[in-house]
Amino acid sequence: MRRRIQIALACVAVLGSAMAVHSLSANGKRPPPPPSVYNPYPPGILPADLDSEIARVQREVNLIFNEAIGEWQALPPPNVEGNPPTIQGSGYNAVEVLGKLLNFDLTISPFKNQACGSCHMPYAGFSGPIPSVNLTMIAYPGTFHFRAGKRVAQRYTYSPDFPVLELNTTLVPNAFFGGNFWDARSTGYKLQSADAEQAQHPPVDTQEMGFPDTACIAFRLSRAKYRPLFEEVWGTDSFDIHWPQDTEQICDTPGGAALRPRHGKQYL
Ligand code: HEC
Repeated sequence: MRRRIQIALACVAVLGSAMAVHSLSANGKRPPPPPSVYNPYPPGILPADLDSEIARVQREVNLIFNEAIGEWQALPPPNVEGNPPTIQGSGYNAVEVLGKLLNFDLTISPFKNQACGSCHMPYAGFSGPIPSVNLTMIAYPGTFHFRAGKRVAQRYTYSPDFPVLELNTTLVPNAFFGGNFWDARSTGYKLQSADAEQAQHPPVDTQEMGFPDTACIAFRLSRAKYRPLFEEVWGTDSFDIHWPQDTEQICDTPGGAALRPRHGKQYL
C-alpha cells in the first residue's frame, strides 16, 4: 500500500515538473495565453476594426429583423381557404415577410451572432457590408471568430432565376446552362431551384454559420419569436418535434466540435 502511494506521489511530481517546464518559455517567463480568436492570417489581414464593424452589422441586421417583425404584425389575420388550404389574399406577403425574418435572424448560428444578412446586406448589393474586410480578407468571417469563408459573398439579386443545371444539346458544341457557381456545385436538381439548394449550406458550413446539423435550424426556429408565422405558412405541426435535452448544447457548438460527456462517453 505504502509503495503504491510512493509511486503515485512520484508520478505527480514528475507530471508537475513536466508541466512546469512546458509552461515556462526559454527565457524563464510564462508564454502568453493562447489567442482567444482564430488568427492564422499574416499580419495586417484581420482588420483592426473587425470587432466594432461586426457589432455594427449585427445592430443593422437586428434593425431590419425588427422591421420585419413589424411587417408581420401588420399582416391581416390569415384567411385560409380552398383545397388544399392556402392563405387567400395575404399568403404571398406572409411568405415574403417570413423570408426577410429568416434572412436577418442572428439566432440561426451557434453563438447567435450571424445571420445570412451579415454577409448579404441589401445596401451592399446583397454582398459583404464591411469596407475593411472588403479591402483585406475579402472572405467574410463566420460565427467563430475569425474563421472565414472561402470567397467573397455573391449577390443574391441575379441568381434566383437561374434554371436547374442542364446540358443544352441543341448547341454545337453542347454546353451546360444554369445552376449556381463556377464549380456548378449547386445544381438545383433536387429542389428544382439552384438558389434554394445553395441556401441550405451556409448554416452548416463550419466557416460560415457553423451549425453542427441542419436540425439546429429547426430547433432555433422552434424557439424564434416569429414561430407562429412559420407555422401559419408551413403548417401548425411544423415543430411537432421531440428535442433531446442537450439540443441547445449541441447547437451552440460550432461544427459540434466539442467534447461533451454523454451517457458516460465522450464524443466529438
Ligand atoms: C460568412 C458569410 C456568409 C453567410 C453568413 C452566408 N453566405 Fe451566402 N454566400 C457567401 C459566399 C462566400 C458566397 C459565394 C460562394 C461561391 O462563390 O462559391 C455566397 C453565395 C450565396 C448565394 C448564391 C448567390 C449567387 O448570386 O449565386 C446564395 C443564394 C446564398 N449565398 C444564400 C445564403 C443564405 C440563405 C444564407 C443564410 C442561411 C447565407 N447565404 C449566408 C457567404 C455567406
